[in-house]
Amino acid sequence: MQLKLRRILVTGGAGYIGSHAALALLEAGCDVVVLDNLCNSSKESLARVAHLGGRALNFVLGDVRDSDLLRSIFADKEIDAVLHFAGLKSVGESVGNPLAYYDNNVSGTLKLCEAMSDAGVRKLVFSSSATVYGDPHEMPVSEATPTGSLTNPYGRSKLIVEQFLQDLAISDDRWSIAALRYFNPVGAHSSGLIGEDPGGIPNNLLPYISQVAVGKLDFLSVFGGDYSTRDGTGVRDYIHVLDLVHGHLCALDALQNRAGFNIWNLGTGRGYSVLEIISAFERASGRSIPYKIVPRRQGDIKECWADTAKALAELKWVAVRGLDEMMIDAWRWQSLNPNGYHKAPSRTDSVK
Ligand code: NAD
Ligand code: UD1
Repeated sequence: MQLKLRRILVTGGAGYIGSHAALALLEAGCDVVVLDNLCNSSKESLARVAHLGGRALNFVLGDVRDSDLLRSIFADKEIDAVLHFAGLKSVGESVGNPLAYYDNNVSGTLKLCEAMSDAGVRKLVFSSSATVYGDPHEMPVSEATPTGSLTNPYGRSKLIVEQFLQDLAISDDRWSIAALRYFNPVGAHSSGLIGEDPGGIPNNLLPYISQVAVGKLDFLSVFGGDYSTRDGTGVRDYIHVLDLVHGHLCALDALQNRAGFNIWNLGTGRGYSVLEIISAFERASGRSIPYKIVPRRQGDIKECWADTAKALAELKWVAVRGLDEMMIDAWRWQSLNPNGYHKAPSRTDSVK
């Protein structure tokens, strides 16, 4: 896909989704500037992105809350648009440390928007989450589904940002903003060189299963076997990270001719249960995944999957990768990089 917007600032571009987006942008012929403070990532991901993309990207080590740094980036780099991934994303951690989450996710986005406004850059794609729907009553969830009552600071930080971005777009019609509500991103680039590298014991299902498969963890705890779903376990809409980042490029493309505040769901429209994910991962990896059914995790919902019609109609975007490809790519990444980006050969030469 070729984009007319050429110079893109990617905040949080060293992280899981941001690194895949940075690569997709390089492949689309864009100049990429990554701003990341590396609080949950390493520079090695960007070295690998540059290696895969066949050309250098520009890396700025710093914080999205640093207004002076943002001002200098916008002054120097002639940015056309921003993909804003930078933020904290652990639900459990957000309950224990809400101020860090509001500061990073809410203040960080405020500072970014101020600097963008001052620089006259008003095209923004924001990483939101299906978590803003709370515990929806009807499936699938469309963008018109009311946002829910949220039970944790992480979710509230996403909803607060969506709301002030909408206010911003109403106040000044030169803004073109997309809030992309991700369902459950999984998988990795097919090279196995970049992927998800959670610190410590993973909270999310796929990283946890992957670490059981390589023998770093003994078994998976399945949170709840008594939901009213087809097999009693929770159902989610898992989406391949490459489909997800393609959705960002389609959103950038759409923002060229579309003012205002736009919300798009990025999901596949199909839900799988935890037990179905375990089976699919076992097929992909050839390893067995021992598991135990344990009580439900507090704050979990029974099921959630996307209505994808709006993104199809307005972005001409649809997820094309199926469950097997998600699992095969997740396993390739995990098996080639059992310790994530640590202890890996360095390719930092190609990062400027
Ligand atoms: P990630 O932690 O891998 O990436 C986030 C990146 O942002 C990291 O590289 C981190 O170092 C950087 N960062 C954090 N705070 C920063 C700051 N103040 N200044 C500069 N850099 C900062 O997470 P991810 O999974 O790639 O998620 C990206 C975005 O998508 C996040 O905003 C997250 O909330 C959102 N999201 C993720 C998921 C998911 O399941 N992964 C689901 C819904 C939404
Ligand atoms: C979680 C967050 C959500 C966030 C999303 C992406 C919670 C309550 N929700 O969503 O806000 O946007 O991650 O970061 O944390 N499961 C197990 N065992 C595990 C891990 C998960 O059985 O060890 C189950 C869960 O109960 C759920 C499914 O697997 O049914 C997916 O869980 P997870 O990957 O954590 O994603 P979400 O809960 O959908």
